[in-house]
Amino acid sequence: MTQRITLLISACVLGATAVLAGCAVSPGASDLDQLTARIFQKSFRDEGIVKVAAMAQDDATRECSAADVAGKPLDEKRAKEIEAANLKTIQWPADGRFLGDWQKGEALAQSGRGLTFTDTAQTPNGGNCYNCHQLSPKEISFGTIGPSLYNYGKIRGVTDLASPAARPIVEYTWGKIWNAKAYNACSHMPRAGHKGILTPDEVRHLVALLLDPKSVVNQ
Ligand code: HEC
Repeated sequence: MTQRITLLISACVLGATAVLAGCAVSPGASDLDQLTARIFQKSFRDEGIVKVAAMAQDDATRECSAADVAGKPLDEKRAKEIEAANLKTIQWPADGRFLGDWQKGEALAQSGRGLTFTDTAQTPNGGNCYNCHQLSPKEISFGTIGPSLYNYGKIRGVTDLASPAARPIVEYTWGKIWNAKAYNACSHMPRAGHKGILTPDEVRHLVALLLDPKSVVNQ
């Protein structure tokens, strides 16, 4: 019986968070949060390199999920606070070098390998950018969760990366790839640098992919 009630509650929580009013059991919101957390903890286990700890939420993921469930955008003041806190986490290049090799960036953008249960700890992580963005016009397989990044540098008038005029867009591009939530609290883009998915060197290659006038993205 207890088992059945638990199942009923979990079906409500997991399947229909947005229509809780329709659930047979309707505990208060914080009870539900605790229950959901317990169900998650019990339903998953560390498997190879994938750890349950990866599901731990921070302010951004917790508050943005709650706003999603409530069907309204996150409060503007909180959004700004979350962005400011995420901005502080960005690791800027210690040696001031923001740009790498766009060809290596293209390979990283193409790769969705790394950090999955079929990978080992030695599998190099990709950036998985094509999963959500168009980049090179030569690649016809891409996702559309994010905006097209084709001509990203060209559209922004970048012709000489060494010129001081290019500096703000170079910095923003680095910061966005490092921690997308620094500029959009509830961004759905993975926080590649912040979460240790990509190294500073790899972020450099991706910044070059997006901004180098010679890159396939800007042809
Ligand atoms: C899960 C989907 C997803 C993945 C994977 C993803 N992005 Fe994004 N990205 C988005 C979304 C959605 C936006 C727009 C909303 C926002 O700004 O946060 C975005 C925005 C951006 C922007 C800002 C564009 C602008 O005009 O300001 C850049 C730059 C960017 N992504 C680069 C990348 C790169 C490089 C990668 C690979 C390392 C990547 N993204 C991977 C979803 C994704």
